[in-house]
Amino acid sequence: MKDIEQIKKEAEKKLNAINTQEELDAFLIEYFGRKSGVLNNILKSLKDLSIEEKKEVGKKANQLKEFLQKKAEEKKQVIFQNKIKIQEEKEKIDITAPSKYHKTGGLHPLDYINQKAVSIFESMGFEVVEGPEVENEFYNFDALNIPKHHPARDMQDTFWLDVDSLLLRTQTSAVQVRYMQKNLPPLRIVSPGRVFRRESTDATHEMQFYQIECLVVGKDISLANLKSLLEFFFSGLLEKSQVKVRFRPSYFPFVEPGVEVDVSCFLCRQKGCSVCKNTGWIEVGGAGLVHPNVLETAKISSRDFSGLAFGMGLDRIAMIKYNIDDVRLFYSSDLRFIKQFSK
Ligand code: DAH
Repeated sequence: MKDIEQIKKEAEKKLNAINTQEELDAFLIEYFGRKSGVLNNILKSLKDLSIEEKKEVGKKANQLKEFLQKKAEEKKQVIFQNKIKIQEEKEKIDITAPSKYHKTGGLHPLDYINQKAVSIFESMGFEVVEGPEVENEFYNFDALNIPKHHPARDMQDTFWLDVDSLLLRTQTSAVQVRYMQKNLPPLRIVSPGRVFRRESTDATHEMQFYQIECLVVGKDISLANLKSLLEFFFSGLLEKSQVKVRFRPSYFPFVEPGVEVDVSCFLCRQKGCSVCKNTGWIEVGGAGLVHPNVLETAKISSRDFSGLAFGMGLDRIAMIKYNIDDVRLFYSSDLRFIKQFSK
């Protein structure tokens, strides 16, 4: 009887220490094995006892057997639940964990400049508007006060399509009247996009390039508004505080007055360098106050409203900013070039 108590204690201790199914299997064999299992050995030993003892020890042995079976079954459940827990832990996804995959690549320099330019205008409440690359003659020229046979058409060598009056737009200014016909002033838009000209390509000319157009129409819009707007814009775009803007009289049929826009050289801070050719100024685009004819074409009263417009090429800005000497690299898909910007 004493032995059975002892065996029970020992078995319980062993069971408690078990963590795996393999350990449990070994335990079951040790205690319940047919040939030399501990319990069988107890039953075998009964033959040497008196009938009274047999009864008592037999009962105890059976109780022990049931007890251990129950405990082993409980252990089996615990092991099984643990296994599931470990599996779940493994499969758990932490959506806040940083990605295992390294981001490779980066923005194309033109995309970078473009996105930056757009976001500055957006921060000032401008709406971003896109126009079609295949445009018609009306919006690209006529509506911008450039009728057929106007000499200004010659300045923008045009890809005409075989279909009547369709062309690849030569300027993002084409978006102006499209938008004004559908929207009442006051309005503020910015329109980035690709434009096309029939050029022989060389280091500074491509037959496609990117422009960004800005148009504001409202009451009493003036050149002073244009200037402060551009100073704010270029300070952000060129990442230099206090970029100065200078206007030089110029001619674009869709604005009056029309100006050429220069910014203070952001490379040498006007000390003089090869990019600004020691003038301290870099030409960046064209601008002016929207010509009354353009407003009227869009059915906006030029008596009640005035507007400002600005357009610039992004390629040249990107070339200066990143010290790129050949515009064709932007469109070459040459990975050696692109990879310089993949940060
Ligand atoms: N569209 C002109 C060009 O491509 C640039 C331009 C000049 C845009 C004056 C304007 C502007 O909005 O007012 O050469």
